[in-house]
Amino acid sequence: MSKRILIIHGPNLNLLGRREPGIYGQETLAQINERLQEIAKKMEVELKILQSNHEGEIISFIGENADWADGIVINPAAYTHTSVAIRDAIAAVHLPTVEIHLSNVFKREEFRHFSYISPVATGVICGFGPEGYVLALQAVVSQFVVIARSEATKQSHTTK
Ligand code: DQA
Repeated sequence: MSKRILIIHGPNLNLLGRREPGIYGQETLAQINERLQEIAKKMEVELKILQSNHEGEIISFIGENADWADGIVINPAAYTHTSVAIRDAIAAVHLPTVEIHLSNVFKREEFRHFSYISPVATGVICGFGPEGYVLALQAVVSQFVVIARSEATKQSHTTK
């Protein structure tokens, strides 16, 4: 069965293309999602995509899909810097999770340097614009290989 990945876009990312293009680029969210779907097809993984401006909706989406999904790619947007609840949802489901930001948040205002999400993410990609989503998808898929390898190693130890 092919692996399944949640793609989560947080608040205001529906405005990509017109939102501060100097920072976030010209590409719209629809174009980014289309690109991700094309790559997912090639990688033989299935995506479920959500954009939401509501914290609770993102939390419910993570919880409701905990059994469906094998991994998560999330740009929590402004919730990165504020949401203990999204962090707790990610920690609860125990799935490989890649946090992604279009901009290099470390080059920007100090309040963007802190992330509630990073400590519960497998890794973070930031500063590569829309291309970062492609890297994040590849990164989460690479984790499936890492997990499968470590499970195989564990099994070979227990059967010895
Ligand atoms: C962002 C960075 C956040 O600080 C900001 O609030 C966003 C987008 C990014 O993709 O660069 O909305 O997550």
